[in-house]
Amino acid sequence: MSTTSSRQPFFYDITLRDGNQSLKKPWNTSEKEIIFNLLVELGVQGVEVGFSAASDMDFEACNRLAKIAPDNIVISGLARAVESDIIKVAQAIEPANKPRIHTFIAMSPFNMQYVLNKTPEQVRKIAIEAVEFAKKTIGKRGEVQFSIEHFGDCHENIDFVIDSLKEVVKAGATIINLPNTVERTRPKKFVELVEKVYLALPKDITIAVHNHNDLGMATAATVESYFAGAIQLECALNGLGERAGNTNLYEVAIALHNSGVNVPLNLNKIYETALTIADMSGVKIYEKAALIGPDALAHRSGIHQDGAVKTKDMEKGAYRPIHPALIGRKDDEKLGFTSQSGKTAIYEIITGAGYPITLAEAQRIAPFAKEAAEKIGELSTRNIIDIYYNNVLTVKGGFKFINMEKLANDGIKINFMYKDKEFNVEAHGNGPIDSCIKALQSSGFNIEFLNYEQKALNMGSDAIGMTIMYFKVPSGQTIVSRGCDENTFMANIKAIFNGFNIMDNMK
Ligand code: KIV
Ligand code: ZN
Repeated sequence: MSTTSSRQPFFYDITLRDGNQSLKKPWNTSEKEIIFNLLVELGVQGVEVGFSAASDMDFEACNRLAKIAPDNIVISGLARAVESDIIKVAQAIEPANKPRIHTFIAMSPFNMQYVLNKTPEQVRKIAIEAVEFAKKTIGKRGEVQFSIEHFGDCHENIDFVIDSLKEVVKAGATIINLPNTVERTRPKKFVELVEKVYLALPKDITIAVHNHNDLGMATAATVESYFAGAIQLECALNGLGERAGNTNLYEVAIALHNSGVNVPLNLNKIYETALTIADMSGVKIYEKAALIGPDALAHRSGIHQDGAVKTKDMEKGAYRPIHPALIGRKDDEKLGFTSQSGKTAIYEIITGAGYPITLAEAQRIAPFAKEAAEKIGELSTRNIIDIYYNNVLTVKGGFKFINMEKLANDGIKINFMYKDKEFNVEAHGNGPIDSCIKALQSSGFNIEFLNYEQKALNMGSDAIGMTIMYFKVPSGQTIVSRGCDENTFMANIKAIFNGFNIMDNMK
């Protein structure tokens, strides 16, 4: 079917029921209340508050949430297709303005035969009677949702399922939920079944889908089901749910948003909600989890880092599906330096830590960083700053400064080594820097001084001086060198020797 963005999805959250039943320690009433309030802030349209027949605690929780629920939110409780469950749900959710009884039974051939031990006709009868009973129990104010458990396994008997659903609708169900209770095959196979049901049932019936994530494709199945006619999307926060979980609400919401659908949720609440749910469920967020995982904004390859940096302030990024602010993420894209990374990461990490560096310098030290990363894996910012200190602020090479003496009239006497040879030279230039460079040049080393600047650099607690020098080497290339010291003159000397060593290393 074709869709337009005016066909608004109905987000029906099942964290407090399917999610809760999968936890090692299911939530109590006050915990459920905290999560319910998060759902309200997120703006979901319906909440399945629990399985009231499961325990007195869950009954109490369902009842409490029904009491505090805003008038516009559908409050639903799950019941097997048995009268005692249905009565419990009706009692628990009675205070809600929009109460809904959700009853279900399996209709897959396998489950009817081996789990329920019933014929299809017996199952159909149970379904119809349960819906009739639920409709009568909930009264005019409420509604009835019916689910075919294991609908995703109903390929062989889909005609029986559709005929049964028509009866169930006549019995009073206005929402038909189609669960992929266990995800076993391709999303397309499931979506084809959803479309068949959608086309067969009256248009005023709401089609819902409820996908489990056993093969990791629940989001795909849910999103495509929406485009095949399903309007109610049953999802859970952080993808909580039995086994590998239910469909992750955030992924569905963003996939639809990115597809031009008007998603009626406060998307900017997603990230903070995800963190709270991880805390409260004890189910940590997987490092690579889509959208919310710590690594979801990390780039480690040089190519990706380059694209990410070039587009970092743009709404659309080269290597991200959304701007992190859309889901309320305050952290930016992160560049991690490994053996796969390049100069862009060095440049970004060093400048991000407050140190000056040029791209050319970053390129020059990238091989040192790669060598370290090959041994120890991803480098920390501290590791990279150390590499910066050792290779930008101290360049190893043939030249080694020993000492110097200032002479009258800006003259200088300097003692240095080049490889194994010691030099003691005097030079008179236009100021001590010029004299020093002249002394090196007069010893036969050809490098042209272009310019220099001085900065105060805050490295740790004390501000120290940094000299930045620009030279032209014999090949015509311009190089930048730096020197750092508390004493400005020594910062100059260091920058000069570093510059000469950079040139020396280029040979
Ligand atoms: O997965 C499932 O089939 C269910 C139903 C009870 C809706 O959770
Ligand atoms: Zn389920």
